[in-house]
Amino acid sequence: MLPEHEKLVARLVQAGDLSPHWRTAFEKVERHRFLPDRITSLNGATVDRLRDEARWFELAYDDIPVVTQTDDGAEGGSGCPSSSASQPSIVADMLRRLDVFPGMRALEIGTGTGYNAALLSHLLGDGEVTSIEVDAELAELARIRLMSAGFTPLVVTGDGTQGWPARAPYDRVICTAAVQRVPYHWVAQTCPGGRILTPWGNAFHNGVLAELRVGSHGTAHGRFGGGVVFMWVRDQRVPRNVVETYVHPEEQGFETSRTELHPYEPINDFDARFAIGLRMPTVLNRVEFAEAGDGRFTVYLVDPDTASWASWHIDPEQRGTGYEVRQHGSRELFAELESAYRWWRREGRPGHARFGLTVSAQHQRIWLDEESNLVASAA
Ligand SMILES: C[S@@+](CC[C@H](N)C(=O)[O-])C[C@H]1O[C@@H](n2cnc3c(N)ncnc32)[C@H](O)[C@@H]1O
Repeated sequence: MLPEHEKLVARLVQAGDLSPHWRTAFEKVERHRFLPDRITSLNGATVDRLRDEARWFELAYDDIPVVTQTDDGAEGGSGCPSSSASQPSIVADMLRRLDVFPGMRALEIGTGTGYNAALLSHLLGDGEVTSIEVDAELAELARIRLMSAGFTPLVVTGDGTQGWPARAPYDRVICTAAVQRVPYHWVAQTCPGGRILTPWGNAFHNGVLAELRVGSHGTAHGRFGGGVVFMWVRDQRVPRNVVETYVHPEEQGFETSRTELHPYEPINDFDARFAIGLRMPTVLNRVEFAEAGDGRFTVYLVDPDTASWASWHIDPEQRGTGYEVRQHGSRELFAELESAYRWWRREGRPGHARFGLTVSAQHQRIWLDEESNLVASAA
């Protein structure tokens, strides 16, 4: 093993991220073989292997996600990440949670670089692994890299939200992009007793892992787990630049009020934000700091469906008199947030792991503690 590779495996072992059978796979599969020559870390620094090979290897084996494509591969875009090799400790954690063993058949959605598909193939054998990638160029690159690393799982070019019925049923389905709605195809293509693991979130909060078990009646249910942020599957992306698009107070009418509530808990606390997002899933929140760097900032809430917005202006000097809130549009988004926050506190500030999800052919239902205690439902 390369020294950087050895260091990464040791780090994952020490953190408790690798069970013995995954340790062997992480030792045998070399992450750098799956990366393009130009890679970008999340802070936007791009490293070209041909110019700085030492730094490229460092990034390849650091415990960080590496962006491998932006703007769906289009030239001249805004640089929005559209594919990456996920952070190795997250890859390890998800594979551990998947609870997958030799003898099982797995479907991966989001082949990306092919690294995760290689790890699965190492454990299960090539014939038991199917991986779907929506981007044809990435799928082809992954096939080539997998083959040159000695793996030949089936890599399909297509929309993974449809699953891949030709090889169903699967014992395990793992998605490596985030969804807002778990596609029922995944449930229908998983054996009774099988599992589905996927990053899950909404416009308000991205996100958590949904860990589902498929029952014998065509329904999957389970709880939410650890905190992860993944890029969305293509047809479930949330809108971007919503403040610039929808918030124009100089031309739009708005109601003004004051509040004692500081965003510290409802927006900063992971569990509070998660729970509030269940009540207002289409609403995005954005924080913008004043250029003066004097501690002032504004929290924007925007619902693109109704073009409603709220802005919540935090000025530390005005702590005693409360903070100004403006609301525009048919939805009173700040009032909705306050009400959702009060509900979460009344429920005893439940952590996200107390919430769960049931997916049937008709609905995606979210509940607290038990399935009868419904929090939200969507078709
Ligand atoms: C975080 S990357 C996956 C990382 C990958 N598992 C690896 O080991 O490198 C997410 C990938 O999901 C792909 N993707 C997005 N929407 C998809 C869809 N509907 N079906 C299949 N793949 C999709 C993206 O193109 C991107 O390559």
